[in-house]
Amino acid sequence: MSPAAIMLSMTVNGEPVHVAAPPHWTLLEVLRYRLDLIGSKQGCDKGDCGACTVQIDGVPQLACLTLAIHAEGRAVTTVEGLGLLAGGVHPLQDAFDRHTAAQCGFCTPGILLSAEALLRRRNREVTRAEVCEALAGNLCRCTGYTKIIDAVVDASRVMAGAHTEEAGRGE
Ligand code: FES
Ligand code: FES
Repeated sequence: MSPAAIMLSMTVNGEPVHVAAPPHWTLLEVLRYRLDLIGSKQGCDKGDCGACTVQIDGVPQLACLTLAIHAEGRAVTTVEGLGLLAGGVHPLQDAFDRHTAAQCGFCTPGILLSAEALLRRRNREVTRAEVCEALAGNLCRCTGYTKIIDAVVDASRVMAGAHTEEAGRGE
């Protein structure tokens, strides 16, 4: 007999969510199979590929290794909510488009969320080495790493420029 469902309450992409799910379900299962947020990918399902990466309270986490109950009362961001952080198309999404950094696209949602956390933490133009370190847990089976790194560095440049413009307007 399967265990009784539990009720979970969390914020997902800025919206309060109340959802019933078996207590042993992972956050990835709840996102994909209860909330229909299928941007977060079920790749290896054992912590090896990073395709399931989401943010919990702004920190990248592997949703396939995180029990949904762990997200109780917390703020979850998936790729579907990435634009909310930027008030529209996120500069990372724009840069991935301009650099053709997504090939099959399977790894892209997880990479975007790992990269967003890096750019928010640094709040300046990042180096290629910093991008490589931040994305070390995100595998791209299409091996398009050069374009992915180009895109993240480019987005950091765009965002740094925007900060500079804002600061200039404030003077
Ligand atoms: S699906 Fe979670 S790390 Fe691969
Ligand atoms: S673009 Fe295909 S796995 Fe990365």
